[in-house]
Amino acid sequence: MIDPTQKIPQIRPQPTRVALLGFGTVGSAVARVLAAQQFAGVELTHIVNRNSSSKRQTDAALVIPPSVQWHDDPAAVLAATDVDLVIETIGGLDPIESWLAQALRSGKSVVTANKQLIAYRGAALAAIASENSVQLLYNAAVAGGVPVVPAVLQGLQGDRITRLSGIVNGTCNFILSHMEQGADYAEVLAQAKAAGYAEADPSADVDGYDARAKLCILARVALHAELNVDDIPIQSISLLEALDFQYAKELGCTIRQVSRAQLGGDVVHARVAPMLVPLTSPIAWSHGTQNMVVTTGEFGGDVVFSGHGAGGNPTAVAIVSDLLAIAHGSCAVSLETTPRRVLGEFLAPHYLRFIVDDKPGIVSAISGALATVGANIDSILQRPGYPKHRLPFVVTTEPCLTSTIHRALTAMGNFECMLQKPLALQMLTVDDKAED
Ligand code: HSE
Repeated sequence: MIDPTQKIPQIRPQPTRVALLGFGTVGSAVARVLAAQQFAGVELTHIVNRNSSSKRQTDAALVIPPSVQWHDDPAAVLAATDVDLVIETIGGLDPIESWLAQALRSGKSVVTANKQLIAYRGAALAAIASENSVQLLYNAAVAGGVPVVPAVLQGLQGDRITRLSGIVNGTCNFILSHMEQGADYAEVLAQAKAAGYAEADPSADVDGYDARAKLCILARVALHAELNVDDIPIQSISLLEALDFQYAKELGCTIRQVSRAQLGGDVVHARVAPMLVPLTSPIAWSHGTQNMVVTTGEFGGDVVFSGHGAGGNPTAVAIVSDLLAIAHGSCAVSLETTPRRVLGEFLAPHYLRFIVDDKPGIVSAISGALATVGANIDSILQRPGYPKHRLPFVVTTEPCLTSTIHRALTAMGNFECMLQKPLALQMLTVDDKAED
């Protein structure tokens, strides 16, 4: 029976007046998506971009209605009375945090794609939003066009999610899935930059900083855990070589940058790193800029989210969807979160790749170092055809802690035969355990 006194959210009688901060790849895509669809109830009224007069001359600006006011200075919109909602697509912490705080305090809802800001300062900004009875939405901050944040907030809060894993950086996935087909690392990275997938500084992508911020946000919405971003261990994909994909294939795997977090008592085990992923796992099936997140709930089991995780248009869809949600009066579920300590440890098999100047006794020395720390070897692989003075080979281990492997690698650092630092990668298995 419908309660006739219940207030049903309506579209505001006046359109929601929107100020767009930033007219780069994502900002201009937001304007394009809005112009193409002419949604009732929302109106783009202001655009802020440094040197806005030159932005107005670009092709991307052709879709902007003449009624839109352009500004160089955000002060023109943050406290303005003719703006209801601010969309932020600039990125970075400072000065954006203070700009968005000002917008929230002056009664404007905020939609942002800024993962670093939401990872580091999201709780503080959400508190300001709540004090001012406005909304802060950040669907676009995680996994671009894949609505994992709103889906978890609206559709999975009834479960107790205990772990999540997946691919949340489109640039890394673009690079690794092309390297899997034989492409060169530097060439594919250049393509990702040209296509607008990569961050302004692509080390944010390849070294794991971007994915780490997204993992923190996912831990907040899915595990209700506030993590210190900088405590999550990250490992770069830049040290991977073509031969690692060949060896991975022999092991029935490929390599992906995996972000994972798992509740373990009072702590959260979390890590962002390139990992060997079985070819049978859904995580291995993601190609190009595709992102994939798998959540595991105590009651509902596994749920998989997948789609385009980078690029202007998919990210703009996430932003515009947040905008429409606010304009239509929807309100996200917000359960309490708890600060949790981060541990980077997982109990997993490991892939170790060595490049050595070959001589007798190397395998025995390596297996001795592993035995000393209690790591058990599962397999040794050596492909033919490499010169003996620069010989690659691979050892895989039974499940053990990454810190255990690192102790063995430290001991191996003294071996004269090692031509470069060995590469150690976790191997993802379905029943991996976190370890306190
Ligand atoms: N550089 C990011 C990525 C863009 O490659 O996933 C989306 O956050």
